[in-house]
Amino acid sequence: MDIKEAIRSRHSVRQFKDTPIEDAAKTRLNEVIEECNQESGHHFQLICDDPGCFNNFLAHYGKFKNVRNYIAIVASTLPNDYEESCGYFGEKVVLEAQMLGLNTCWVGGTFSKGKCKAKIAEGEKLVAVIAIGYGENQGAVHTSKPMEKLCTVPESEMPDWFKEGVEAALMAPTAINQQKFVIELRDGVANIMSKKGPFCRVDLGIVAYNFEAASGHEIARVSAKLKR
Ligand SMILES: Cc1cc2nc3c(=O)[nH]c(=O)nc-3n(C[C@H](O)[C@H](O)[C@H](O)COP(=O)(O)O)c2cc1C
Repeated sequence: MDIKEAIRSRHSVRQFKDTPIEDAAKTRLNEVIEECNQESGHHFQLICDDPGCFNNFLAHYGKFKNVRNYIAIVASTLPNDYEESCGYFGEKVVLEAQMLGLNTCWVGGTFSKGKCKAKIAEGEKLVAVIAIGYGENQGAVHTSKPMEKLCTVPESEMPDWFKEGVEAALMAPTAINQQKFVIELRDGVANIMSKKGPFCRVDLGIVAYNFEAASGHEIARVSAKLKR
């Protein structure tokens, strides 16, 4: 499976099998997480065999079942754009997980922050977690706003690479499926802006990663700042 197929087949999965994550997959995930941490300055951590974080009312209300593994999205809060950066690098890990045959769900609210086993140093913050494991199902395609609501360029005028990027952006996970972003094309360069909403800045980074991975083109404003 390549990254474009991973973008197409990824849907949030909230119910997981008992099967532990295979050693080879765990090793690869830890490698990618380490690369992301090096590049971003964050402190993402894969935590396995710890059901406590999803064993509360909120998680059950959110229809989570048997979440035994998660990636703690622990940010270094030094950069102003640390939330966007968490989204960008977290989505990189999510798509790698999909390519390894795993399923995921970004979770900003419906988990127990107090029971999260991640190490959080001074100057760091737990922004979200990503539930991960072998899903009982593959999730479902989310309903999407129409392309013309999320992009200022008419479809007939889009260069092929840009269209691929926008299509991948529309498939990206966003908190409560809010899709509060707008993508534009100026002087041949893509740009992305966010409206206001919960986790909007994290969403922005996630959407930017999907766009860049599918189009092979960097988004001007977001990527310049996110990569150090
Ligand atoms: C930043 C962020 C936070 C999220 N928080 C939660 C959450 O607290 N609980 C939950 O059940 N889903 C959560 N989600 C998953 C979204 O509901 C889901 O991505 C969205 O509905 C789109 O569906 P899809 O991921 O299947 O494409 C979150 C997603 C993102 C990106």
